[in-house]
This record gives sequence, C-alpha cells and structure tokens, in this order.
Amino acid sequence: MAADFAAFRAQFPTLREKAYLASGSYGLLSRQVEAAFRRYLDDRLERGVDWGGWTERAEAVRAGMAALLNAGTDEIAVTTSASAGINSLASALEFSGPRNKVVVSNFEFPTGAQIWHAQQARGAVVEHVPEGSDGEIPLAHFERAIDERTKLVQITHVCYRNGARLDVEAVTRLAHARGALVLLDCFQSVGAMKVDVQALGVDFAVGGMLKYLLGTAGIGFLYVDRRRLAGLVPTVSGWFAQADIDAMDIFANDPAPSASRFQTGTPPVVNCYAAEAGISLIHETGLKAIEDRIRTLTGEAMDRLVDAGCRLATPRADDRRGPQVAIRSKDAAALTAKLAERGVVVSWREDKVRAMFHAYNDTSDVDALIEGLMAHRDLLA
Ligand SMILES: Cc1ncc(COP(=O)(O)O)c(C=O)c1O
Repeated sequence: MAADFAAFRAQFPTLREKAYLASGSYGLLSRQVEAAFRRYLDDRLERGVDWGGWTERAEAVRAGMAALLNAGTDEIAVTTSASAGINSLASALEFSGPRNKVVVSNFEFPTGAQIWHAQQARGAVVEHVPEGSDGEIPLAHFERAIDERTKLVQITHVCYRNGARLDVEAVTRLAHARGALVLLDCFQSVGAMKVDVQALGVDFAVGGMLKYLLGTAGIGFLYVDRRRLAGLVPTVSGWFAQADIDAMDIFANDPAPSASRFQTGTPPVVNCYAAEAGISLIHETGLKAIEDRIRTLTGEAMDRLVDAGCRLATPRADDRRGPQVAIRSKDAAALTAKLAERGVVVSWREDKVRAMFHAYNDTSDVDALIEGLMAHRDLLA
C-alpha cells in the first residue's frame, strides 16, 4: 500500500505553524514519540523501577536499528551519542605500530575529526582529505591519502555543510584494498535514505536518533561488522559492555562477544522509549517510500530555487546528494533569522542556509521557503 504522507504529516503538530526544514538539525516531535515520553513517565509513576522493561526497550532500539541498517542485532551498540560510539571505537584501536594513520575526510562533522586528533596523544597520525574546487571530494583525493600505513578511514555519507553525498562504496573498496578499516558517519542520512552497511561494505557506522530517525537527543548507535568484533576490545568500558551484565564482577573486564562491548554504563532509558517510537515510525512508513518522497521534494525544490536565481552548494544529481539543499548566502545567519520570522525554520553553516527535508514536508514548505528567500534577495549570494 502506498504511504499516506498527508496522514504522516498530520502526526507532527509543529507543521501546523511552521515550514520546518531543519530535520538535519533536529527532527520534529511526532505524536507517537510524544506518547512514548508519556509512557516512560507513566511507567515510572506506576512501577518506580523496571530494569527488565528498560533493558527490553534498549534491545528494541538495537533490533530496530539493525533492521534499518541491514545489520545483525549483535552488531549494534546503543550509545548516548555518535561521539560516544567513535570514542569507544578509538579506544579499541592501537596506534603504536607502523599502521598508525587515520584518514579523515573534510566532510566530517567536527566530532568525527576531533576524536581522531585526540588520538594523536596515543600515536595516531591524522591526514585530512580535502574537497575539490566544486566542494565535493573526488576519489582521487582518497587515493592519495590512504596507504599501507592507514589504520582507519573516517568518512561521512552526506556532508552536514553542503548536503553532498560521498561514494561510500568506492572509498571503502579502496580502503580495504589497502588494508584499512572504514568508519561511516551516517547521521545526516540514516532515516532519510537507505544506509545498507552490507552493501556499502563499511566496517563501522555511527549516528544518532535525533534527526531523520525522529527520536530524541541523548541516544546514538555504533554498528560494528561482526567479523571485526573479536579483535577489538574497547578500553572505554563499563558494566553494560560486559558479556554478563548481572555478573557484577569487580575482578575482571569480560567484554560482550557482541557490539554491546562498545557500550558503557546505564542505557539512556528515557531516550530509548523515544528512539524506539521514532524508529518504528520510519519502519511503519517505509524507508523506501520516505527516501523516494524526500528525493522528489528536494529535486523539485532545487529546480525551483535555481529558477528563482538561488546559487546552490548541493550537487543536483540524485545519487550525489541526500535530504539537504544548501543555498548560498551573503549572510547565512541573518537570512536564517529572517526566514524564522516568517515561520520558515532552516539552519545555517558557513555561507549556506540549509533546508533539510523529511517525508513530512510537502510542496507548501517549498513555497514558503522560496517566498521567504525572494523577500530577502539581498541576502542571497
Ligand atoms: C554528521 C554528524 N555527525 C556527528 C554529529 C554529532 O553527533 P553527537 O552529538 O551525537 O556526537 C552530528 C550532529 O549534528 C552530525 O550532523
């Protein structure tokens, strides 16, 4: 059955008042996730404590994420942020030998570079992969950077600054051919488009549930290919990383055989309620239908924006972009503020206003965006 996007849209009350185009900043709160937060409060009031139920919720989040990523449940760690997942992974890597280089694309969100720079204190050497003059990163730039000394390559699926999509499969093939592992940051794509970790071939993937996954802040995930698990023992650890959480053994660290070994302490219980509901909403609506709708909406928006005289930083080809359309501006902060005054919610980075679409958006949001931009033509680049 075709997804009913008018009914989907109706689940997000904010859209009654706003043209909300900031889902890559924070996804909107749905009625379902609101109800999940209330369920948490009801459960607390009724039972006080419910470790069994809370653990089940965290497991439901793991299973939901595994299904979205085409991974096994045993390959997912539930974390408190993408940064927490990257830090746990970094703690399991050695940088003392000759393979001590981490290659980091310039598309990374700061956290995905800063954490690797922090490993310099442990012997890591960080090399950046720059963009070309068109703002994209050609494969040739990765070919130059990835070599026999490279331990790990950190890449991003869709760049948070300009919405450009990397050819993850090609970079991963190259990295693997040279003996390096690949960590994919899919925060700006997961929930809005297919992220099939097996098809992409990546060893690790991180993200969180507050944007296109429609959950909340304070919860994230780390995917670890199960073939990498045995060789990786994080030194960032805790009781929720153990093979048997109930063992309560203070005389040993016995990491779980699954990706749970990349967890640390008590799971973010409240956030698990919300994330479970957000991920369920994606599953129920259908990821393929969501991706198709976003592609159509953003494609139409880009064509209309160009017709209206806007300069875009996002590549137009469907396979080279994600759910974000980045519009060049002389003063992106001022333009974002002007749009907000008209009820058009976007976000900005550098010299770009970012319109970031979800499947709950429709043509009326594109109309409002273009009207707002035309009213402030002087701020367009
Ligand atoms: C692509 C990307 N990676 C990482 C992060 C940061 O994640 P966290 O705050 O969960 O560590 C963000 C946040 O906006 C992001 O857009």
